[in-house]
Amino acid sequence: MPDFVFACKASEIPEGGKKLLEVADQLVVIFQVEGEFFALDDICTHDDGPLSEGALEDHTIACPRHGAKFDIRDGRALTMPATKPTGSYEVKVEGEDLYVNFGD
Ligand code: FES
Repeated sequence: MPDFVFACKASEIPEGGKKLLEVADQLVVIFQVEGEFFALDDICTHDDGPLSEGALEDHTIACPRHGAKFDIRDGRALTMPATKPTGSYEVKVEGEDLYVNFGD
């Protein structure tokens, strides 16, 4: 069941950029690429690196610690040393507001 929680104003996330936010007591990174929004846990599954501090290129975020790359659309680990996906969440836009789905 969806469980959308208000995250921030859409205008706070620049196109081609990202922002670290605390939503529902959880740290999530929200990205905007080509006008779409995506949300991931701020946790690299290799060794807990902060994905919010990594470099974003197209739909790929690189962990700043050892360089593992993740797809921001679904959290998939794309390159070593990470092998497991990180948490990813649907983002809904309503007017000027962004909501993150922490449900199913
Ligand atoms: S902690 Fe992210 S690649 Fe090692």
